Amino acid sequence: MSGGPAITLKSQPIGSNSGNAAAAQQQQSANDAASGSSSQAASGAAGSTGTPAQEGTRQNSLQRIQQRKQKVFNLPEAQKLAKLSMYSACQFEGCRCTGWKTPQENRHRDVESSYCPEFTEECRNASCCHPLRSHIAHLTEISRASMDDLLGAIIDMENLFMSMQRVEDEDTKKVYLYLFRLLRQCVLTRQQAVIRGPLGDPPFESPCITKAVSSLVFYKYSHLNQTELQTMTEVAKTFLNFLNHYNFESPSARRADSTQTHEDASTYKINYTRWLVFCHVPAFCNSLRQFETSLVFGRTLLRTVFQSMSQQLKKKCVSERDRFPEDKRSIITQMPKFLEALRGELLKDDSPIWDPNYRPPNSFVMQQRKRHQEVNSMAAGASSSNIVSGVKRSIAGEPQHKRPKKDTVDRVSSENSDDLPTEVVLRAMNAVMESKTTNKAEILFPVNVSRDENVKAEEQKRAIEFHVVGNSLTKPVDKQTILWLLGLQLVFAHQLPEMPREYISQLVFDTKHKTLALIKENQPIGGICFRPFPSQGFTEIVFCAVTMAEQVKGYGTHLMNHLKDYSIQRGIKHLLTFADCDAIGYFKKQGFSKDIKLARPVYAGYIKEYDSATLMHCELHPSIVNTQFIAVIRNQSEILKELIAQRHNEVQKVRAGLTCFKEGLPSIPVESIPGLREIGWKPQMRPARASRPLEESSDPEKLATSFASVLQSVRQHTTAWPFLRPVTAAEVPDYYDHIKYPMDLKTMGERLKRGYYQNRRLFMADMARIFSNCRFYNSPDTEYYRCANSLERYFQTKMRELGLWDK
Ligand code: ACO
Repeated sequence: MSGGPAITLKSQPIGSNSGNAAAAQQQQSANDAASGSSSQAASGAAGSTGTPAQEGTRQNSLQRIQQRKQKVFNLPEAQKLAKLSMYSACQFEGCRCTGWKTPQENRHRDVESSYCPEFTEECRNASCCHPLRSHIAHLTEISRASMDDLLGAIIDMENLFMSMQRVEDEDTKKVYLYLFRLLRQCVLTRQQAVIRGPLGDPPFESPCITKAVSSLVFYKYSHLNQTELQTMTEVAKTFLNFLNHYNFESPSARRADSTQTHEDASTYKINYTRWLVFCHVPAFCNSLRQFETSLVFGRTLLRTVFQSMSQQLKKKCVSERDRFPEDKRSIITQMPKFLEALRGELLKDDSPIWDPNYRPPNSFVMQQRKRHQEVNSMAAGASSSNIVSGVKRSIAGEPQHKRPKKDTVDRVSSENSDDLPTEVVLRAMNAVMESKTTNKAEILFPVNVSRDENVKAEEQKRAIEFHVVGNSLTKPVDKQTILWLLGLQLVFAHQLPEMPREYISQLVFDTKHKTLALIKENQPIGGICFRPFPSQGFTEIVFCAVTMAEQVKGYGTHLMNHLKDYSIQRGIKHLLTFADCDAIGYFKKQGFSKDIKLARPVYAGYIKEYDSATLMHCELHPSIVNTQFIAVIRNQSEILKELIAQRHNEVQKVRAGLTCFKEGLPSIPVESIPGLREIGWKPQMRPARASRPLEESSDPEKLATSFASVLQSVRQHTTAWPFLRPVTAAEVPDYYDHIKYPMDLKTMGERLKRGYYQNRRLFMADMARIFSNCRFYNSPDTEYYRCANSLERYFQTKMRELGLWDK
């Protein structure tokens, strides 16, 4: 979940200073501070604190930072190099100066505006005195993009420096100082800033707040009607949005709270530091990787801030009520009820919404998916042509007032698409069910039951269990977990004899790694050790094994399916592994491929690379429940077989011959021949002459004018913005890895001018390509996807208006 109406709070004034004089001073002070000259830093700070703090909204601060960056990126190269020289080590052999210092007389001139020192000017630092050139000798060859990255990091660093001067809280100051130094080091060494250390890696708790809040919506409100449920979903989104922009109190401000134990205080301090480092500061300093608060924190943090946060949110709702559009007011009115429900679940230790394995009831998920599909298929304006969609339409359907009369549905499905009539599919489903329940012998002694079914039956009886376990340095680890981790370490060591034992222990007990354990009679008999990289959107599988005696029983498959579901629930869409030569077959059967669809920069440097192993990739589909997938496919294939059998019976049926000709009739309509329709014959539907598409009745010029008018209207539509021009690899680096036949409205305009669209099929195909590319590359919850659906509908309407559409 993301988005929701934007109720935000004023943020701490990071980077709200952007004036040129201030920037000059800032750059000088940060430079001095970076080189360890604390007294100079203090004097720079005195200057900056003298300026009244600009209380802007978060958005304003962000904008100002972006504007300043853009201005620096647009400077002439000499000026950029001068700016860089101030944070770059002198290349003169033996010189230890870490940044060129402006000569005394120019100290207050700003290199971000008109001042551009000569490259021959000497550094003010008495121990250096080398010309500016010696500080940039190693930078002149770097690409423009790398130069801008470095400059961006420098601006972030200067902003951090200013914030550090302004902030009074000592804990916060220390964090800013730490990040400032980190960025300073990265600029010096020209490396990407990566935060490592005792804070651990996000996510810090499972389930995350977003997941628990979604579960709350399922858990508490699934009985509501669609509109009410939609409102509660919006309320939940608004809450998450507020949390993601919420400014947490510093630990010192909370010390006054007498109910807080010593342990609470130290846990809060850790979480506050994590929030600053991973969520808050990176929102302003984009050289640091940013994470959403609601995606990386869980119940512990929410419990500590809930009371004050919910009070502020309620107040905000009251004060902003009138600014909310009329149709969204229900979000405001429902907010207190939602907050009360969430508070209840936060306090309950056994609340299911905080169980990492909580899943909404299947029926609810099905219902939601069906609704989602209906919305999508309505949006796409096309009827799906597979059996499954036929089944879904017939079983639940839309609300009565929206549903066309039943006979219309059937006629539409049987005449206008290749769908089978609903009753036929239902009959087949019933036949399959019946054959299962009547064939008792097979139920008692299943002969052809797949391994997957056996494993699932064992899981249902709790003969086997799956748990995700891992070590922790910040939370107590229970004895059971330690015992399982030790057992898993042995399983991996036995099954992967090539791996050094110490290496296995190191990773299994490493806090960044987790292991999905398969437990039988309280002993681990298999597992997958993995490391999630949520920021990169993939999980690395490090070890995967099942004990010898339990192999080839389906456990390996079910383990992998659990890992896939676990990953999907956490928003991860890719699994990567270096598979041993012998295991490539197994991974292929689990949907992995040697064809890596992820761009290398996404995983290079993150995943551990092994010699003599093969990198394999599996893309996860967010709407597939992998642990159910095999059963669903099997059911569908049984229904399909039954349908084929029924059709077969129809085809085989011998009907009485026609007698009408003997009785004197010269001819009869083809469709009146008994049995013809039953075996799938359909009358050729030719559109009536008047409504025949333009292309058959019109000259090419008229056609081109019509296309130009449609194209013009489409271009001007509010949802056309993503499709106006080609996607560039600079904007979306992996776009062309996935999209082989790109198309956009500009290219269509050019093709139209060149006379490429000789018929409407060509025109429609290019337009359809735009929408299908978009839906292929983007997920359904994105703005792009919605734009594609909406623009497609508009395009069809326009085509219809001009008589260029068949139906
Ligand atoms: N090569 C080819 N196919 C295999 C292999 C293999 N090494 N192992 C299993 N399969 C096949 C099975 O025959 C089965 O196919 P089928 O359904 O068509 O009959 C399918 O893969 C899945 O079988 P499961 O019973 O679900 O898997 P199992 O419980 O045997 O677990 C595992 C598979 C984990 C690979 C197990 O055999 C094992 O522990 N092997 C030794 C350790 C190992 O090689 N681990 C992988 C190293 S790479 C890494 O860890 C990143």
